[in-house]
Formats: sequence, structure tokens, C-alpha cells
Amino acid sequence: MNKTKGHTMSEQTTAHSVSVIGLGPMGQAMVRAFLKAGVEVTVWNRSTDKVDAMVELGAKRAATVAEALDANEVTVVSLTHYAAMYDVLGQALDHLPGKVIANLSSDSPEKAREGAAWVRSHGAEFISGGVMSAGDVIDHPASYIFYSGPKDVFDAHAALLRPLSPQEYLGLDDGLAQIFYQALLITFHPWLIAFDQALATIANAGHSIEQFLPFAQRSSAAYPHFMELAVETVKTGGWGDLASFKMMDAGAQHIIDASTESGVDPVLSKAAQTLWRKAAEATEQTGQPVPIYKLLGGRTA
Ligand SMILES: NC(=O)c1ccc[n+]([C@@H]2O[C@H](COP(=O)([O-])OP(=O)(O)OC[C@H]3O[C@@H](n4cnc5c(N)ncnc54)[C@H](OP(=O)(O)O)[C@@H]3O)[C@@H](O)[C@H]2O)c1
Repeated sequence: MNKTKGHTMSEQTTAHSVSVIGLGPMGQAMVRAFLKAGVEVTVWNRSTDKVDAMVELGAKRAATVAEALDANEVTVVSLTHYAAMYDVLGQALDHLPGKVIANLSSDSPEKAREGAAWVRSHGAEFISGGVMSAGDVIDHPASYIFYSGPKDVFDAHAALLRPLSPQEYLGLDDGLAQIFYQALLITFHPWLIAFDQALATIANAGHSIEQFLPFAQRSSAAYPHFMELAVETVKTGGWGDLASFKMMDAGAQHIIDASTESGVDPVLSKAAQTLWRKAAEATEQTGQPVPIYKLLGGRTA
């Protein structure tokens, strides 16, 4: 493992300046957070109008990627995906040696690992981050950032990066921040869509979604309990037996009926029902419980 130049394992950097490459909603939120914390920020973005907006707030303009890399030891990258990192840093490869790239863009874990290896092959240190924010509101109390990669590199620059959001360092695997980030989004995306289905079902039936809201919030208080149960049961293969799968299939039908009666497309509930039925069928065929966790390819923890 490479050592961060000029820092020991436990030392925090005293640097008070950083470069930010990529000024979409997230990059802009990061620039604002750095500036608010008194950190000097140099910015580069492909579209220069976004640079102008950040310069007006007090950031320094880099005319090229090379200038942005040269300006500071640490450059935060916030691009749509890792492919964009190659396009951007590829413009200034000979300015990478001795630098630190913190790529806080989201992508798959394997793309993050490949990106990390590529950056290191050009002489820079690398850490990866997954921004678990409430949209681009990185100063929301629930927002935080997963980091993974070499611990000494993270430790050396944690203080500099702290204005972005609370930090959760996960481990050495460069893909780990993205595994946890994507795992949480695996849950979040269907939840968002399911909540739309619930609201549409209520509104189309002529009832009040405001009246419903506190009950939805109250029910979500039980989710941590179900998460703990899921983690426990996954250790022995996952939740369910034939009677449970049949019960969930029947329950899914009631949900589908409720939405359909309101003229709402129950596509997500139909997908859930398909899985409960597959689990029941596999259980009947094998004579052993085949939980959905196993059907999907999960391993016993
Ligand atoms: N926004 C959020 O709420 C949020 C929350 C959590 C995580 N994230 C993650 O944070 C990252 C950034 O988010 P964002 O919302 O700011 O993304 P975005 O709107 O997609 O913009 C990111 C930046 O990527 C640049 N870009 C894309 N492809 C490029 C290329 N080939 N060459 C050069 N520049 C390129 C864009 O430049 P141009 O301006 O020139 O187009 C833009 O500055 C994403 O990975 C996203 O998944 C976002």
C-alpha cells in the first residue's frame, strides 16, 4: 500500500485548500460547503458557465484540468460516472504524480476498483466515496459519505474533506463505498416508486394523502426491526417457508386489487408477487424452504 506523501498513518492534513472537478448539483454543493468552512477551492468543469457561477461565490477558476490538479494536493472529483473521470483526468495525466484523487462520483464497485487502479498507475493516491445525501443537500442532518480505499490516505485528508458531510470510512476495498452506497439505493429506488403507488392509490380513491402521511412515517419506524430480523435470518439462508410464501402471495394480490380498483398500475406489487410465487414453487419442488434471498442469489452469511 502506498503511503501518502508527507503524512503518517495518524496525522491529519493541515492543508486548507482543495480542487473540485465536476460542478453538477453535487459538485456545486461541495464547493459551497468547502467555501462555507473557509477552505480555498479551485474549480474546473467541462461547461464553463458552471465554473462562472462558482467563481462568483468565491472559488478560483482553473482554465484546464492540469491547472486544477496543480493547484492543490487533493482534488475531489464529482462526475456523472467513472467513465467521465478517464475523459477528464486523461487530459492531464502528467499532472497526476504525487497528487490525491478523491472520487466521490457514484458507479458500480468494480468500476470504482478499476478507476482506483488506473489513477494509481499514473502516480496519484486514490480514495473513493459514495455520497449518501438527501438529494444534493449534503448539509442535511441525515447526509453522510462512505469512504473506502487505503486508510492512511483517508486519514491524511479526512480533516480537509470533513466540511462535505460526516464521514464513514468502511475499509480497504476500493469498491466498498460503492457496494454500501448501491446497496442502500437498491432499497431506496423501489421504496420511492412504491410510495408513489401508495399515494396514487389513496388520491385516486378520493382520500387525503396528508391524512396518510403520519401513518406512513409511523410504519417506517418498524423497518429497523425488520432489517435486524432479515440480517439474522440471512445468516441461516433467509426468511420464509411455504406457508409464509403463500400468505405473502395472497397479500400481494390484495395490494394489486387495491391499486387496480383505484386505476393505479400495480407493476411493482406484481413483481413482488411473482417472486413470492417463485419461492413457493421452488420450495414445493425441493421440499426445502427457498427464501427469496436465496432465489436472488444470496449466500448464507
Ligand atoms: N445530485 C445528487 O443528489 C447526488 C446524490 C448522491 C450522489 N450523487 C452522485 O454524485 C455524482 C455527481 O452528481 P451530479 O448530480 O452533480 O451529477 P451530474 O449532474 O451528472 O453532473 C456531474 C458533472 O459531470 C460532468 N461530466 C459528465 N460527463 C462528463 C464527461 N464525459 N467529461 C467531462 N465532464 C463530464 C458534467 O459536466 P457538464 O457540466 O459539462 O455537463 C457535470 O459537471 C454522480 O455520480 C451522482 O450519482 C449525486
